[in-house]
Amino acid sequence: MTAPSSQPGRYAVIGNPVAHSRSPQIHSLFARQTGIDLEYGLLPAPLDGFAAAVRDFFAQGGRGLNVTVPFKREAWQLAEANLSERARLAGAVNTLWQRDGALHGCNTDGVGLVQDLRRLGADLQGARLLLLGAGGAARGVLQPLAQAGCARLHIVNRTAERARELASDWLRASGATHPAVSAGGLDEAALGGPWDVVVNATSSSLADAPPELPAGLYAPGALAYDMMYGAQPTAFMRQAAADGAAHCADGLGMLVGQAAESFYIWHGVRPDPEPVLQALRAALAAPAR
Ligand code: ATR
Repeated sequence: MTAPSSQPGRYAVIGNPVAHSRSPQIHSLFARQTGIDLEYGLLPAPLDGFAAAVRDFFAQGGRGLNVTVPFKREAWQLAEANLSERARLAGAVNTLWQRDGALHGCNTDGVGLVQDLRRLGADLQGARLLLLGAGGAARGVLQPLAQAGCARLHIVNRTAERARELASDWLRASGATHPAVSAGGLDEAALGGPWDVVVNATSSSLADAPPELPAGLYAPGALAYDMMYGAQPTAFMRQAAADGAAHCADGLGMLVGQAAESFYIWHGVRPDPEPVLQALRAALAAPAR
């Protein structure tokens, strides 16, 4: 049963932990901007209780869920019968909704990344792109990056074998012959470079340490992009600037971009991410009280 139309639609982000999530703030700002009445909350789920929490949420009239760590893979399994192409190739779902009683899933992370790279002025058509990492975050952005028209995509990872597995899994699942995709260890990051865009999809910045990369990775005018974000430039951004990257950015714009795409899936309206990004950046920069 859906909620009566006079009531605001209920949305939430589900995760464990989830208290830190900025999604409620982002979706509330989008709602205000577009004049859509909605409630967007936090839904903590026990590690062994994700499926039950999702079922309860929709049974009680909830309209849509964003999914965060560590449940994106489980969300993919739950919505396996109705996955978007993006979600199928990403192997993970960050956006859930119900239609005719069935659960549907999409992954908007990669679209959010590509939109943010374009907002920052990166010309992806014909670009040489280096992707660092081979975990869920890297897997989730491969298809939109490949579809953005880049000429080469080189995936490197601390554990080289995982990068090779990711590249071959992806080539098999997508059937894509373009762009040329290669893979290796971090020490092979310069092979085929220098790079126009380098995307850090490792979690190394969580420990405030950059990945161990060789020098000389950046082509003139290159962009270094960290999918992590913070009040200060991340360790990867500092490393990239020292190695000659012309532009460095963190992943706050990707966060807002993926949320904008979820908002579009649920409401059919595209919000403007720019003012929301500015509000979040200002909040990050403000001293903690
Ligand atoms: P996520 O879903 O965020 O991608 P994950 O699947 O645990 O999380 O993957 C984390 C990624 O960050 C992996 O590519 C990991 O490298 P390994 O596969 O070798 O473990 C990478 N990573 C984490 N810490 C790192 C560090 N200090 N230096 C380089 N890579 C790191």
